[in-house]
Amino acid sequence: MTALSKDNIVAVIGAGAMGAGIAQVAAQAGHPVRLFDAKEGAAERGRAGILAGLDRLVERGRLDAGAREAIAGRLVVAEALDDLQGASLVIEAIIENLDVKRKVFAALEGIVGSETILATNTSSLSVTAIATGLDHPGRVAGLHFFNPAPVMKLVEIVSGLASDRGALDTLFDTALAWGKAAVRTTSTPGFIVNRVARPFYAEGLRLLEEGAADAATIDAILREAGGFRMGPFELMDLIGHDVNYAVTRSVFDAYFGDPRFRPSLTQQELVAAGWLGRKSGRGFYDYGTDAEKPAPADAPPGPRPDRVVVEGDLGPAEPLAAALQSAGIPLRREPGEGRIRIDGATLAPGDGRTATSRVAEGEAVDLVLFDLALDYASAARIAVAKADQAPAGALSAAAGLLQSIGKAVSVVDDVPGLVVLRTLAMLANEGAEAVLQRVASAADIDRAMTLGVNYPRGPLAWADAEGAARILRALEAMQAAYGDDRYRASQQLRRCVAAGRRLLPAETG
Ligand code: NAI
Repeated sequence: MTALSKDNIVAVIGAGAMGAGIAQVAAQAGHPVRLFDAKEGAAERGRAGILAGLDRLVERGRLDAGAREAIAGRLVVAEALDDLQGASLVIEAIIENLDVKRKVFAALEGIVGSETILATNTSSLSVTAIATGLDHPGRVAGLHFFNPAPVMKLVEIVSGLASDRGALDTLFDTALAWGKAAVRTTSTPGFIVNRVARPFYAEGLRLLEEGAADAATIDAILREAGGFRMGPFELMDLIGHDVNYAVTRSVFDAYFGDPRFRPSLTQQELVAAGWLGRKSGRGFYDYGTDAEKPAPADAPPGPRPDRVVVEGDLGPAEPLAAALQSAGIPLRREPGEGRIRIDGATLAPGDGRTATSRVAEGEAVDLVLFDLALDYASAARIAVAKADQAPAGALSAAAGLLQSIGKAVSVVDDVPGLVVLRTLAMLANEGAEAVLQRVASAADIDRAMTLGVNYPRGPLAWADAEGAARILRALEAMQAAYGDDRYRASQQLRRCVAAGRRLLPAETG
């Protein structure tokens, strides 16, 4: 264990949203903390904000008054950078600007000892670049907290090209000692979370732009079928489109325009309009006082089927067959390729191709595809799409079937990959690509996505559960359908499928 001991001084530079939160975490963990901000009065305001937050915890009985006093006593405002002398760890959380950060680090080298670890909370700059030009670049590393730092469990420990192993290990163990979950990553654009999460927003935006469904319906599908806490549009509205768009742009530019990270014109327009989301009162949704959040579009009630034929194995969607039986609908099993047949419709799980192209390739003309669900047994909603060739009645029949087992049904346009499958395929593909490029381990990627952005399941473990081969086929189908390299499958995914290996090796899962 190489964690800093509790009597080591931790200095935090920048007393804004992140710096104040980080200072609180360090002080709560028992360290003497020095909080510095270049702006007159900002550190004092930051400290007052922390104490007010602690008071609320005391009021709610979640912190005792004595502990609050002890934390307050440990948390000291530094009047000048020179006052940070004696710190064992300095965490920088100032403005996201490379030149300014470099100047601060260079100045620090003249103040603190050569052993002091210099950590940056940057979310988009190169840790390597921040360390360049210092006398001791080895002691610089990224310590990337998530907002709000006292609440969010995850910390990414980011190694720059010159970072010393010892400094990284100390940061890792110290983060654990502070009650955080630490993951290791290399200094690459977006690190783990801000990179692997990009498709969650990007595919939502693309689906909206193509008219697959409206924002409220796509959000509901990702929440109620995908198991995500929030859908992409409500989440982008919460983050703020200025921030979310800037992150997407910076990752896109940093990867030299790779189409996987291509930003959205729709989001650019929202930023141009100043419709930044909740904070400006309007984004995809209206947050005015009288505004009501639009409801998702649900399919009208369809007929309950008299009988059902299930052909072959439905794979992860097998719970649907069990639910139909529990609902008392006579069900016959026949050999086949995983289809549910009822009067007027043939239901098949999405595989990345459109229903329309599948009918053209010879499947039943009344084909209706159903989307992926995190857990078909408990999902409250399932999305469906019908082939252009299928009669309109096919949708009503398919909706009636799913409604008879208690699901709300969202009809989406017949887009490649539907909604949840497309989102999972792209998240898992990005995670696999990050593993391939040695950005982080598969286990750390999955942990980062569940703890940093609250995904219901790590994308790699989830893809394994669905079958990595199915995820690969979906990506290949989407790449073919769109002719867009955005959907190209990672070599890591191809290799795991070819070797029959899991994306998340079992021993680390
Ligand atoms: P903020 O704008 O709330 O606070 C920045 C503070 O740094 C301000 O109080 C400012 O006066 C101070 N400052 C600016 N230049 C300074 C200098 N040269 N010396 C000392 N203090 C200086 O910014 P926020 O959101 O706290 O972000 C800080 C850093 O954390 C950035 O690098 C950002 O990319 C990163 N970050 C932000 C997250 C977020 O959700 N806001 C999440 C994770 C990382």
